[in-house]
Amino acid sequence: MIDDSEFTASNPRPDLETSAFDQVVERRLSRRGFLASATATLAVAACATPRASETRAFDFAEITRGTDETIHVPAGYRADNVVKWGEALFADSPAFNPAGQTAAAQRQQFGYNNDFIGVTPVPGAENDGNRLLMCVNHEYTSTRLMFPDHDTPSLEQARVELAAHGGSVVELKFDGSTWQPVVGSRFNRRIMADGTPMTVTGPAAGHDRLKTSADPEGLTVAGTMNNCAGGMTPWGTYLMAEENINGNFMGKLPEGHPEADNHKRMGVPGGWYRWGRFIDRFDVAKEPNEPNRFGWIVEVDPANPSAKPKKRTALGRFKHEGAETVIAPDGRLVIYMGDDQQFEYVYKFVSQDRVNRRNAAANADLLDNGTLHVARFDEDGSVTWMRLVHGEGPLTEANGFASQADVVIEARRAADLLGATPMDRPEDVQPSERKGRAYVMLTNNTRRKEGNAANPRLKNSYGHVIEIIEPAGDFAATSSQWEFLVKGGDPADPSVGADFHPATSAEGWFTCPDNGAVDPSGRLWVSTDGNPKSGSADGLWAVETEGADRGLSRAFFRAPEGAEVCGPRFSADGRTLFIAVQHPGDGRGATYDNPTTRWPDFKPTTPPRPTVIAIRREDGGPIGG
Ligand code: FEO
Ligand code: CA
Ligand code: CA
Ligand code: CA
Repeated sequence: MIDDSEFTASNPRPDLETSAFDQVVERRLSRRGFLASATATLAVAACATPRASETRAFDFAEITRGTDETIHVPAGYRADNVVKWGEALFADSPAFNPAGQTAAAQRQQFGYNNDFIGVTPVPGAENDGNRLLMCVNHEYTSTRLMFPDHDTPSLEQARVELAAHGGSVVELKFDGSTWQPVVGSRFNRRIMADGTPMTVTGPAAGHDRLKTSADPEGLTVAGTMNNCAGGMTPWGTYLMAEENINGNFMGKLPEGHPEADNHKRMGVPGGWYRWGRFIDRFDVAKEPNEPNRFGWIVEVDPANPSAKPKKRTALGRFKHEGAETVIAPDGRLVIYMGDDQQFEYVYKFVSQDRVNRRNAAANADLLDNGTLHVARFDEDGSVTWMRLVHGEGPLTEANGFASQADVVIEARRAADLLGATPMDRPEDVQPSERKGRAYVMLTNNTRRKEGNAANPRLKNSYGHVIEIIEPAGDFAATSSQWEFLVKGGDPADPSVGADFHPATSAEGWFTCPDNGAVDPSGRLWVSTDGNPKSGSADGLWAVETEGADRGLSRAFFRAPEGAEVCGPRFSADGRTLFIAVQHPGDGRGATYDNPTTRWPDFKPTTPPRPTVIAIRREDGGPIGG
């Protein structure tokens, strides 16, 4: 996260401002009480979901709340650094030299601010069972934490930052106790905000609104950036979600430019960085269409390092947080996506074609054809997934949508017109295949003045988690049910309106859920971004979703000061948990010379380094008990 103020609303449609009597009444209704009547119906669906009742209870000793310079795991667990910002990926990568960074070096090294983590087996005969490919996003750069001369912007500094964005594919090998990078593996790869050409596919490919002076065809973009969370497809490709792309653009759009409203809706230009002083495409006065080339989901094939990444425009353009996938019972692929900003929406893409489970190559263009939906959460406990399809309902020429390209480029405005439910910053939406459910992480929304059924708290600093129940486990359904799982905050303070299982300990509650993970046993884990405002560092919590313990949360991991916790990803055997520790040492006005911690190296001249760690049980058993 950069700062809460950067995520304030650009949705101009505040039902946020409406003051209807029925909303007051609505807030007084307990969702739990209300859903008691709906439970009879849902029970049928739950019974139809196989293995739902087999979940093991968590069994580990909770860590304590607090904030300090390092990480914390439960007794009986160990955490090892896997790969840090600036570490070598290739045989000829230069050594990390933070005081003398160059773009050429950063292009050969692990990027900054690791976020999403995906893992997939090393393909083919090369896999001996102890090797995997780890795909990691690098969300953004913290100029003042990265560079000793952060007050003197330069072209080279901008190029270092562009090289530090994007993603890394890193082969890892298990050495019997933990996972380490295979430097020089033929699979290792950097994907960056420049120097990594990618192809635009789907409805917006080649559209006039994507054309620039460098790409008059509107088909090839120089890179990807602000890659927050993401997903892995069932065929082993890596989906990178482009999130806060607006901040990288500066300048003033020419007077009366047709993209003015579109850019405003995305917060472009944010002016958070000065790259546009040195590189024309980040100045909207010079390249007004360049922002339309970002805000997409990018698909990368980690098994083929020379394959061009593809921007899949059928999945819509917004501030994409994640893109977690699941196969529906009829074989189609479903991708859940959040748009991480106050009052934005939850989306679901359903592919037109079925996933080919035996031939990965047959799925090469699966993400180019399908239907993007946006969610309306109603007070009767239903979710209606509304189609963003050109020509249907209000998505017509009369409203400025001349084709499906316009619908996907301006997915937010299309969703406005359909009456989607404005949410409290939807981040990761994590499906649980075996339970037929999906968990929506809603971080917070300090500007909410009026509640709705699914976002009932005003000035919600605490966030909540919503469970979407897909009918009989049909992830492709267009009618679903929803229920709160937990509401963030301290349950001991009645003014907060928190809701956890009453047995949740003083360590076990959290605020600001951001990323979710489901372990191989089907259990939910929630990481946070913003918990320090509640008096304890960000971390990872294990949350029961079933039976009498539903909503019981336990503290498992704590990050160093300044860091948020991203990525959480389990190995297929559930015995390793990978975590991305992002922006350690930030906060309290931190700079390169004065970070709030120097984790993980703790050397006086080495800045704090975003790092992927691997957590294992000392006895090698499954994480979480
Ligand atoms: Fe990049 Fe939504 O956190
Ligand atoms: Ca976040
Ligand atoms: Ca996030
Ligand atoms: Ca996730």
